[in-house]
Amino acid sequence: MTMKLAHGILFTEQQIQQRVSELARQIQRDYEGKTLVLCAILKGSIPFLADLMRHIQGDVRLALIEMKSQVDGQHASILFTSSLDLADRHVLIIEDIVDTGITLDYLLKHLDAERAPASLRVAAFLDKPEARRIEVPVHYRGFTVPDKFVVGYGLDYQERFRNLPFITWVEPE
Ligand code: IMP
Repeated sequence: MTMKLAHGILFTEQQIQQRVSELARQIQRDYEGKTLVLCAILKGSIPFLADLMRHIQGDVRLALIEMKSQVDGQHASILFTSSLDLADRHVLIIEDIVDTGITLDYLLKHLDAERAPASLRVAAFLDKPEARRIEVPVHYRGFTVPDKFVVGYGLDYQERFRNLPFITWVEPE
């Protein structure tokens, strides 16, 4: 089945920028006086990370992780981790979208067990609760989306559409 971009827009560039700066203010308040490590999951979270971090004042550091979801949709694994010690750090995972929850569940368990952070929370730009198969905590949420395949602002369909500054969706041609 080939998919094409829908004509509608779910969230405009302006709505996104407004919401991301609100989230940044909330995060800045919650981590006041602490060193915060933003641990971004590549590649989809890059625009969210870049916009969010520029609005957070204080000691903010970065870690990058690339994950792979297996074809069967049951498992996740880690492909790449940048060098940065997360032990005893306040770590905030930056995710583009929480869909089934499988990726995040795997990462949370892995980081907790292997990296011993002082605290571990999740900031997800989008949340698609109807698709959830594993319960995962989402402490900071940009927007909730319906059960559609959404693209733009970092999110792709077969590596395309990440560069759109707004959120739309793909549908059958
Ligand atoms: P999970 O199903 O929660 O494990 O999500 C795994 C990953 O699949 C997310 O981090 C996204 O990169 C990708 N993904 C899930 N739903 C969508 C979508 O609607 N559009 C684009 N990517 C998605």
